[in-house]
Amino acid sequence: MGSAVVSDDVFALMDEWGPEKVVCVSDRRTGMRGVLVLDNTARGMGKGGTRMSPGVTVGQIARLARTMTWKWAAVDLFHGGAKAGIVADPAAPDKEEILRAFARALANEVPREYVFGLDMGLTENDAAILLDELGDRGAAVGLPGALGGFPYDQLGVTGYGVAEAADAAAAELGLELRGARVAVQGLGAVGRAAVRRLAELGAVIVAASTVTGCAHDPDGLDVDRLLALSAELGDDCVREYGPPAPPERALSVETDILVPAAREDVIDAGVAAATTAKLVVEGANLPATPDARAILHKRGVAVVPDFIANAGGIVAAAHSMDARYSPFQVDPGDVFSMISTKLRANAVAVLQESRRAETTPHEAAYALAQSRVREAMVLRRRVPEHV
Ligand SMILES: NC(=O)c1ccc[n+]([C@@H]2O[C@H](COP(=O)([O-])OP(=O)(O)OC[C@H]3O[C@@H](n4cnc5c(N)ncnc54)[C@H](O)[C@@H]3O)[C@@H](O)[C@H]2O)c1
Repeated sequence: MGSAVVSDDVFALMDEWGPEKVVCVSDRRTGMRGVLVLDNTARGMGKGGTRMSPGVTVGQIARLARTMTWKWAAVDLFHGGAKAGIVADPAAPDKEEILRAFARALANEVPREYVFGLDMGLTENDAAILLDELGDRGAAVGLPGALGGFPYDQLGVTGYGVAEAADAAAAELGLELRGARVAVQGLGAVGRAAVRRLAELGAVIVAASTVTGCAHDPDGLDVDRLLALSAELGDDCVREYGPPAPPERALSVETDILVPAAREDVIDAGVAAATTAKLVVEGANLPATPDARAILHKRGVAVVPDFIANAGGIVAAAHSMDARYSPFQVDPGDVFSMISTKLRANAVAVLQESRRAETTPHEAAYALAQSRVREAMVLRRRVPEHV
């Protein structure tokens, strides 16, 4: 009875794009339950992180795998969409046993069809365990530096890409980034690196917020001081920088460019209707509600969508995939230079396509990704040409 319900559910997930394969696994001894979803591999091997959470469901992992299909295609790198999930508490004392059981259960698929990577609930040390269990250096990416891994967040690859995308998008709009005012929400891995690179490119950072408050100066913040305080104090840096305003201030200050780099749904209809920004560059995932996207579009505010602007991490992941069997560590210079080239080109392509097709930049970005996946499917004769 139970299995019939599950299989109906899984079939219901399958549409014209995928998933091509769903592998559910369990292990009686540890109580491990997990799933691997390979969504669409027309453009290349499925790649996406491995999540551990008590709330993991097959449907959720399938949705995340689909998102990866579009992300890889949007950034124009040749991987397909995949994601894996383990139903467990990441704080469980037997986490290692659960990870090892999961890896063993997927020994047929990993690393030929899937490579473990990081997502919620998994750390670099966990990637090391997954790799060890399968005895193959190709089984996981997201490894600690001592095993040849590439420290994405430490190097700030995503925030760097957000700033590069902002620069190219601003130029496309005829708005010079040098001297432009920028407000950034969030000073975590993404926000900090974005602020650093935006300042290097000549932007004037007028506001930067964390969950504890907002540093605001219409004449421009002292970015070196703010980043030094952030390294020392974390989110409290904005209080020490002083005088602190409420955290929401970053979304309402007078600015030319707004960079949400904290959480989802923070740009609601009210923020979208009131912002003075001419450009929003989405560092966070899903920072604008659907209403807000429509309002921004109507008001002529350009938006670089999340999966275009924050794709720096996946460019780095592609380099890590490529380096799995190499004795040489990934060269950060190669990663930064590819992020710059790809994200600049994609930001401009999406804004131009949005203008041409008179759709929102999100719709334009999805259309671009879908056309690339469809073309690959046609070339492989997975679908007829005229579909
Ligand atoms: N780290 C990556 O490489 C990466 C890649 C792609 C997307 N993202 C997305 O970017 C966003 C940020 O990720 P991160 O890794 O920098 O997270 P993080 O946890 O390192 O930092 C989050 C920051 O946002 C701040 N914040 C939270 N709520 C806030 C609020 N209400 N007002 C102001 N600031 C607030 C926190 O104080 C913190 O400074 C998330 O949406 C994440 O999914 C991250």
